[in-house]
Formats: sequence, C-alpha cells, structure tokens
Amino acid sequence: AIEKTYNMIKPDGVRNGHIGEIISRIERVGLTIERMELGMVTLEEAEANYGEHKGKPFYEGLISYITSGPVVKMVVSGENAVATMRKLMGATNCADAAPGTIRGDFGLTVDENVIHGSDSVESAEREIKVFFGA
Ligand code: CMP
Repeated sequence: AIEKTYNMIKPDGVRNGHIGEIISRIERVGLTIERMELGMVTLEEAEANYGEHKGKPFYEGLISYITSGPVVKMVVSGENAVATMRKLMGATNCADAAPGTIRGDFGLTVDENVIHGSDSVESAEREIKVFFGA
C-alpha cells in the first residue's frame, strides 16, 4: 500500500555532512520526499515524539541530543514506505547495522544513529503531526 512515514536526519547526520547522500538513497529507491525542513527540534516536540521512552535510562540523553543541533525533518511517501525506510536505515544500533545501510555506513553508536524513521503507519501519523502540524 502507499504509505507516508516520518524521517528525520538527526543532529549527527547533519553535523557530519550526510544530508545529500541520505536524500539520494531515499530518491534512488523510488520513494517521494513530500515535505522537508531543516531546523531545530524544540523541547516540546522532543518530549512529544519520544514519550514512549520516558523513564528509560537513555531518555534524558536522547532529549538533549535530539535538541542539540539542526535536523532535517521529512515526510516520505510511496509503496511500503515505512518498511522500506527501515530497511534503508538498518538496525537501530549502528554497531549492528549492515554495511550499505544508512546507519551501517554513517554511524557508530546507538545514541547518535544518524536517522529516525517511524516504526508503523500509526506512529508516522502521530510523528508527522508533532513535527509538521495537523
Ligand atoms: P530511534 O528509534 O530513532 O528513537 C529512540 C532512540 O533512542 C533510538 O533511535 C536510539 O538512538 C536511542 N537509544 C539509545 N539507547 C537505546 C536503546 N537501548 N534501545 C533503543 N533505543 C536507544
């Protein structure tokens, strides 16, 4: 089915100069970038987006990291977009991500893992509202 997903090049991905390569990989598989914006994540957006992780040991670090510098916020659409983006991204922990995936090629750790992607169509709808409004 045609789906929409929310993707975000995280502060390390922007800082390390990987915006162009990541966008190229998304376009190369035939997905469409419907919306895109470079900017900071506010504390309110970070807390709304990562509410499910509240109380976990990595939560505070995650919030300060994601608000530490500009990100690229994107709505990506196309056939099977949620799973396709997760395949392009690779495993959450860059140390486990296969070569050829975005995280496998551009990251080293689980905390600074280059890119975010929604884990379901439902999460995508919620995240798109958080970052782009209704
Ligand atoms: P993401 O799935 O985009 O959103 C939650 C983030 O928390 C995740 O990426 C990782 O960058 C970070 N994180 C840090 N430690 C962990 C962990 N043990 N399990 C899952 N996510 C973690």
